[in-house]
Amino acid sequence: MASNQPTDRLPNADLLAAHPLIIAANRGPVEFTRNANGTFTHRRGSGGVVTAMSALGKYVDPIWVASAMTEGDRQRAVTAGGEPVVVKDRGRPSLKLHFAAVPPETYDLAYNEISNTILWFLQHYLWDVAHEPDIDPQVWRAWDVGYAILNLTFANTIQRAAELAKSDRPIVMLQDYHLYLTAALVRKRLPHALIQQFIHIPWPDTDDWRFLPARIRREICLGLMANDIVGFQTYDHCHNFIRTCVENVPGADGDHEWMCLRHNGRTIKVRPYPISLDVVAVRRTAQSPAVEKYREVLQDYLGEQTILRVDRAEPSKNVLRGFKAFDLFLDRYPEWHGKVRFLALLVPSRLSVPRYQQYLDDIYAFMGRLNTKHGTETWRPVRLLVGDNYERALAALTLYDVLLVNSLADGMNLVAKEGALLNERGGVLILSETAGAHEQLGAHALSIAPSDVASTADALHAALTMPTDERFRRAAALRASVEQADIVRWITDQLDDIAAVERESFAHV
Ligand code: G6P
Repeated sequence: MASNQPTDRLPNADLLAAHPLIIAANRGPVEFTRNANGTFTHRRGSGGVVTAMSALGKYVDPIWVASAMTEGDRQRAVTAGGEPVVVKDRGRPSLKLHFAAVPPETYDLAYNEISNTILWFLQHYLWDVAHEPDIDPQVWRAWDVGYAILNLTFANTIQRAAELAKSDRPIVMLQDYHLYLTAALVRKRLPHALIQQFIHIPWPDTDDWRFLPARIRREICLGLMANDIVGFQTYDHCHNFIRTCVENVPGADGDHEWMCLRHNGRTIKVRPYPISLDVVAVRRTAQSPAVEKYREVLQDYLGEQTILRVDRAEPSKNVLRGFKAFDLFLDRYPEWHGKVRFLALLVPSRLSVPRYQQYLDDIYAFMGRLNTKHGTETWRPVRLLVGDNYERALAALTLYDVLLVNSLADGMNLVAKEGALLNERGGVLILSETAGAHEQLGAHALSIAPSDVASTADALHAALTMPTDERFRRAAALRASVEQADIVRWITDQLDDIAAVERESFAHV
């Protein structure tokens, strides 16, 4: 049974005592910089995957395998000479980090060209398919000598980590779309490993995958089917995955009732694990002096009522249509001029991919036009703050009247959950039907289709004029929903299923 309460011990402690736990993710828990005097400093890695998996560090000391993403990481890996880097992190048990290091050009092909351009765009429906993608020789090269090599390097590094931990049956928890080929390569090296992979982003249906060549589709499916369990954020994504594998792997059987695939005598479980927050940690940070300071600073950015969005500056987040909806709202409801403010906190992201740079430029340009059209000397309708500042984001989330989450596609969207947990003003959540979070939170939010600028404008009006008692009732329901399924539940549900695989495999010996 999964526990909802914070605890010092995971219910699956026996499993974890019997097998070392190896977490493999592209972005590691820390990132290194080399100082002028040759020493290294590290800072915590950013993003949801690190936050989620780091929550495990409270209970066990996992071994991490991560890409050497920066020059500092690469140099640190060389200095470690094949041994893990031991990282001490604020009172937590120290963790061991092995770098999967490939040359920078290889990494660029894998990360920028395949993961962040081809896979991310396909899995978030971002392609303008009349014009793209062109799977040209450069993409094939990026696949064969970039992505495949990075995955091979991960498999070799995981094997080495298992050897050092003296185990031929580690638990390997692979994360996300950078590592679709890794499980099959680990299975060859460690046939008895318990391997599970969680995909944090959407898994589109089989029709969408047909935009990729058959060989790439098959390699992805076969790679993932070497896991014992493949996890997704929602039921929909699980069913899409089962269908995609059946279509692309000859001899694979899909069972939508038992949620599994069968192939070559193996059963691969396919399960939803909706990701959530470390409720205790997020609340603790939100009460810190740093966040309190930002709550004061942000007073200058608020209106009588404030619409907020907090996102990476990312095409899938649909920032431009959010501004278009606000523009239309101000056209339709002029009585709100001077009273409402739209505060957008955006974190620059993946700027080495040209589309991301272009998207950020488009956001600045649109905001400029909107403020010129509607603004006055004393009222700037949109305020945009760009930067990676977690404390400031948490402060803003306590203060909004309306939170706009209008993503085109989102595995989950943790901002919606952070807002639900922290907001103190009975804030209304406007939530895209295509965000994974909608499955859980949609009943208490105002739902919108992400393309529907007109309805989004009306939803802004409905939220801003909603009676106070209804606002607080909805906000309380959202908060309760997030509290009762936090990150401990996400982790223990996965470990429970891994324990079941372990028991079943013993039963077959
Ligand atoms: C978002 C996605 C994750 C993904 C991460 C990668 O957080 O939800 O699924 O792993 O981005 O971001 P990065 O900055 O490491 O490319």
